[in-house]
Amino acid sequence: MVERADKPIDELTEAEAEVELARLAAAIAQANIAYHQNDAPDLNDAEWDALKRRNDAIEEAFPGLVRVDSPSLTVGAPPAEGFAKVRHAVPMLSLAKAYTDQDVVDFIQRGHRFFERDKELELVFTAEPKIDGLSASLRYENGVFVQGATRGDGTVGEDITANLRTIADIPAKLAGTGWPDSIEIRGEVYMTYAEFQALKARSAAAGGQDYVNPRNTAAGSLRQKDAAVTASRNLRFFAYAWGQSSAEPADTQYDAVQKFAEWGFKVSPLMVRAKSVEELVAQYRLIEAQRSSLGYDIDGVVYKVDRLDLQQRWGFVTGEPRWAIAHKFPAEQATTVVKRIDIQVGRTGTLAPVARLAPVTVGGVVVENVTLHNEDYIKGIDSTGRSIRGDEPIDVRIGDTVVIQRAGDVIPQIVRVVLEKRPANAAPYEFPHECPICKSPATREINPKTGKEDSRRRCTGELVCAAQAVERLRHFVSRGAMDIEGLGAENIDLFFNAGLIKTAADIFTLKDRRAEVQAALGARREAQAKLREEASGKARKNVRGVEDRNYEGLEKLFNAIDARREPELDRFIFALGIRHIGETTAAVLARTFSTMEELIRVGKETAAHADDPHSVFPDVDGIGDTVIEALIDFFGNQRNDDVIEALLKQVKPKPYVLSVSADSVVAGKTVVFTGSLEKMTRSEAKAMAERHGAKVAGSVSAQTDILVAGPGAGSKLKKAEDLGVQVISEDDWFALIAK
Ligand code: IVH
Repeated sequence: MVERADKPIDELTEAEAEVELARLAAAIAQANIAYHQNDAPDLNDAEWDALKRRNDAIEEAFPGLVRVDSPSLTVGAPPAEGFAKVRHAVPMLSLAKAYTDQDVVDFIQRGHRFFERDKELELVFTAEPKIDGLSASLRYENGVFVQGATRGDGTVGEDITANLRTIADIPAKLAGTGWPDSIEIRGEVYMTYAEFQALKARSAAAGGQDYVNPRNTAAGSLRQKDAAVTASRNLRFFAYAWGQSSAEPADTQYDAVQKFAEWGFKVSPLMVRAKSVEELVAQYRLIEAQRSSLGYDIDGVVYKVDRLDLQQRWGFVTGEPRWAIAHKFPAEQATTVVKRIDIQVGRTGTLAPVARLAPVTVGGVVVENVTLHNEDYIKGIDSTGRSIRGDEPIDVRIGDTVVIQRAGDVIPQIVRVVLEKRPANAAPYEFPHECPICKSPATREINPKTGKEDSRRRCTGELVCAAQAVERLRHFVSRGAMDIEGLGAENIDLFFNAGLIKTAADIFTLKDRRAEVQAALGARREAQAKLREEASGKARKNVRGVEDRNYEGLEKLFNAIDARREPELDRFIFALGIRHIGETTAAVLARTFSTMEELIRVGKETAAHADDPHSVFPDVDGIGDTVIEALIDFFGNQRNDDVIEALLKQVKPKPYVLSVSADSVVAGKTVVFTGSLEKMTRSEAKAMAERHGAKVAGSVSAQTDILVAGPGAGSKLKKAEDLGVQVISEDDWFALIAK
């Protein structure tokens, strides 16, 4: 099965979205392990962030598909310490991706649809190599390089000015004339193969570390504390974009990049202008043919709308420009063997199978685990029973030889089972029907609407299952949730196993049980010391007993817990770990209900009217039936009442206060467009409203502030009038946003 990732989200079917969310969860989990535990990142921050953002965007579009092991529920961004933070005045974006020529056709067609009112318009694009390095933003004031930063999460990066100054391709002063007084030049820092090989050889001769691939090495080289080390790595830089600028460098992408060259930057010699899919794809093939002789890694070709005014009009979706796309080269593949299949139990009891592989390198990264998603996936069928591997479904067995690839060069997945190599004694995998942790039955729920079985098997031991309880607690303290420093997964496990915490409220009373906490920490230290002793064969001199003396660490922990007694409401709601409620939905609920008390009141009231929830629960954009049902389940359960009541004795979530940017009169307003629009397409209208800070909804409700009605408006107009919503024409709209 070759699945494509990074299709535009509004084109994903539900089944595709589900597969992709599974894949994203696995990739992010693996990246986190590589980053936090193995100290060997397999993704750079930008890539990690792009995955996370895509995950969140898909979850927002399909709230019903939020996985129990979703990265939005379980993890925070990998921390980066040591460099000062730099806020990018203009965010550093990532790019949507195309994997096939058809994806490129779709992209161009979207462009033509968006601009279809402009009859005369000829859409011209640029095509240029996608350099596989790290993006950097370089600020020039009066032609002098003053500050350089990494991309970071796109909004906040790290100040690596000193290191960037060592790169010969980055001019300390701009050459030529005509540069804006202040401009951020953006581009890619990369390492050539020659430099990479030389460094590897030097390191091997000196008995030093091994380096995985040029990109990771370039990343490591940029984050050196000592700029002399960076200098010794001979990094390179291509300029291809810009951020904040006191004046536009040119009218088109192409001309801007030519200017960069005049100002002393290296720019890709392979950039061209193209007017049709054929011309773009021809340049893609040409660049692909030269790939192996370039001397540095590229992973695709980037197409951008050439005219800047059209870029501006076409606009952005969550963190990506609509007007650009990265046409990726095909993923690399490798063959390996499935050694074991493990089952992990998530926070809401989902049994998640993971194949443990004989380690193999794919695209320069060692892959050892790959998610098997669910029971059907292992059997080789999708949720409709159709084969996903071969004409007849081919299952995955322990001992099988499999071909894996990193989709979008990032997420490992099984592409194919090599049946000729299947051992004679390999038996079909029997998916457990009981939870491996608490032994409760694990069942597949029937979706009452479709009558279909859920693809996931779930442990039914909700309250008795230690795995679920621990996962809930881990989630509660995690970064996106209550973010309690020093109380990571390890300590949660320890305190849970020692019987010190059963539910979240217990965390806040740990201080009252200081002696027991100390004993638990001391016992762990003891056990660890013993392990080390056994491993090293040396006897310890200093036996430190259960009487732990690390008061300072303990005090820090208690202080960190106390510091979170007044969390933001959205974090608190998210931390509760209600099914289907990720960060985005939690924020919507916080905005809608303002206080926890109000959410509880409406939640319980809705649960009491579960047969007609809409008679109680307001019509809120972004809250669908799946979420409402999850709220009913949660607030209709007495046991959760007790847990929340105990928790609210310890914690007082801050009421939500709306902060509206004062920039535009429509900022923060909810707008609905209806009828036929004559001056703009529907998607252009949406993009424009969003640029001015407004929210666009599909239907009129009491939450609607403005209805923009064109000719032929019908039921929405009537409803708006009934509700007393402000109704304006398309012309009024333009006048309004011009204010
Ligand atoms: S343009 C507004 N052009 O790809 C668009 N990006 O997936 C900003 N990249 O973070 C990016 N070569 O690190 C652009 N010729 C190129 C590129 C390129 C490599 C990287 C860049 C960016 C990532 C987006």
